This record gives sequence, structure tokens and C-alpha cells, in this order.
Amino acid sequence: MKRILITGSNGLLGQKLAALLLPRTDVELLATSRGDNKLAEIFPTLSFASMDVTNPVEVERVVAEFKPTHLIHTAAMTNVDQCETDQEGALRLNRDAVAFVVEACEKHNVHLIHLSTDFIFDGEDGPYDEEAEGNPISFYGETKLMAEEIVKKARCKWAILRTVLVYGVVHDYGRTNIVLWVRDSLRAGKVIKVVTDQFRTPTLAEDLAMGCWLAVERDAEGVYNISGKEMYTPYDMAMLVADYFDLDKSLIDKADGSTFSQPAKRPPRTGFIITKAERELGYRPHTFEEGIAMVAEQADMY
Ligand SMILES: NC(=O)c1ccc[n+]([C@@H]2O[C@H](COP(=O)([O-])OP(=O)(O)OC[C@H]3O[C@@H](n4cnc5c(N)ncnc54)[C@H](OP(=O)(O)O)[C@@H]3O)[C@@H](O)[C@H]2O)c1
Repeated sequence: MKRILITGSNGLLGQKLAALLLPRTDVELLATSRGDNKLAEIFPTLSFASMDVTNPVEVERVVAEFKPTHLIHTAAMTNVDQCETDQEGALRLNRDAVAFVVEACEKHNVHLIHLSTDFIFDGEDGPYDEEAEGNPISFYGETKLMAEEIVKKARCKWAILRTVLVYGVVHDYGRTNIVLWVRDSLRAGKVIKVVTDQFRTPTLAEDLAMGCWLAVERDAEGVYNISGKEMYTPYDMAMLVADYFDLDKSLIDKADGSTFSQPAKRPPRTGFIITKAERELGYRPHTFEEGIAMVAEQADMY
């Protein structure tokens, strides 16, 4: 029996983990997030504890009480521009809270699965494997690299799962994703500008959740790339979405990243080589086209 504690359960990955793990009879699950449980309506049987990961006393208490075998740390400040403008807040959540989580995992002998990002790289020479050197160009990337350094020194079992441009449908979040944004804009006859100079291996949120579970199930240790397999620009992705829903592609305009004035710089070419996760964890991501179909189906459910 695995006892799994998830941080940030209200978020995109947290929700997908809850959906994946709740039905499993070989898992005892505790979902945690700051504030209230936003998932009570869709998962009425989910055990939830409010836990702010920036509060070390709370982290220690909840971990000590639940006694997990594994902790999946998804909570983070994930808005890249917000990290640039609120650097103190980003350090508190993306660096300091990781130290608190590590401390609790060390004390209670918990296997930590920590989530990281392609934004630890400068994007000059992607796709990257697990051995590539980090060199962030945004504050978000800096804080996530600092977190990795903390996790790598942890005196408990740990795995770092790095991921890229995660997309999926979230419940009660007021947040869209690239598939629905393109579909809904084109359906409304709106012209959209989409960048052609950023390359990524987009990740279906369900695949990332599965990657986390595989890491738990196999007690994986070390760094793993968990993303999609295909390298696309957001423009390519928009064209595939238009194809899938049979929408007017002439509404999709090409744009340079530099045409958007955003506080944080974006790495041009990231993307991951995922052969290690395929070989060692049996990870098998969906194609982007399969991902579009899954998102479309769920969009009508929530
Ligand atoms: N999404 C991506 O494209 C992407 C790409 C690469 C890496 N990642 C990494 O993957 C992980 C999961 O990302 P995600 O997309 O699921 O993020 P997300 O949707 O932003 O979810 C993060 C969750 O953490 C919660 N949270 C924020 N501050 C907290 C605190 N102090 N204590 C406890 N919970 C707190 C948030 O709560 P509220 O709901 O209250 O805000 C939110 O529900 C992150 O570590 C991220 O860095 C994500």
C-alpha cells in the first residue's frame, strides 16, 4: 500500500493526480492545498487537509499525522511573469517551501517526488536530456533550479520530474488551456496571434500525473523528463487544433515572441528527450492529437 500526499492538489497537476489515484485500491491518498478544497464537488470522497507549504509548522504537522510513504510536491508559483514581478513571493514558494517539504520528508522518511520545469534551461539547444546543465533566463526558472539543488541534497529518497508546457482541463479554476483557447477563439471568428519561435514538447496533464504515479510505483530516484514526445511551436499546436475541430486556419496569425511585452523572458527551444522515462518507468505519453481529443471530451464535462 502506498500512502501518497499531494501538495497543490487544487492545481492542474494536483487535480489530475486526484483523479488518477483516488480510484486505486493500493493507494491511500491525502490531497493538500492552501485554503479550501476546490475538488470536493467532483471528488466527494477525497481526503483533504489544508496545508500552506510556505508554513513549515503546518507542513511538519500534516506530514507527521498522515505519515505518507510518498509526497508529490506540485505546489509552486507557476505564473512565469508573476515570478518576475513578485520575486520575494516566488522565492518563498518555489525555493523556501521546498526546503520545508524536504525537511519533513527527511524527518519522516518519505520518498519525495518533486516537480520541475524546462524553464531551468536557456532554450538555446533543446531538446534536453536529464544530464543537461541548467541555465535559467527567467526568475521562475532560477527559483525552480534552486529548488532542484535543495532536493538533490535531501537525505531522503527523491526524484525530480521535469516537465514542459502542461495542458489539460481544470475544474473551477477560471483558467483555459491552449487547446480550448484556440478552439473557442476560432469558433468566435477571432484572429489570434501565436508564436512561431518557441519550441516545446507539450505535455498532457494526465500523462504527467501518470508519470508521477509510475515514479511512486517504481520508487524511482534521480531526475526524469516527463513530457510529450513531439516538438511543436504554439503556432503548430494552434494549426493542429484548428485541423482537429475543422476551423478556419486563416484566423491564426504568426507572431514572434518579441511582439508580446511580457515581464519574463521565454527560452526559445526547450523540449525534452524522454527515453529514460520510457525505458525505466514504462512512461508512454499520448500524441498531441490524442491530447486534443481528450481535452475536447472533458471540456464539456466541467
Ligand atoms: N503548468 C505547466 O505548464 C508547467 C510546466 C513546467 C513545470 N511545471 C511544474 O509542475 C508543477 C505543477 O504545475 P501546475 O500547472 O499543476 O500548477 P498550478 O496549476 O499553478 O497549481 C499549483 C497549485 O499550488 C497551489 N499553491 C500555491 N501556493 C501554495 C501554498 N503556499 N501552499 C499550498 N499550495 C499552494 C495553488 O493554489 P491556488 O489554487 O490557491 O492558487 C495551485 O492550486 C509545478 O511545480 C510547476 O512548476 C508546470
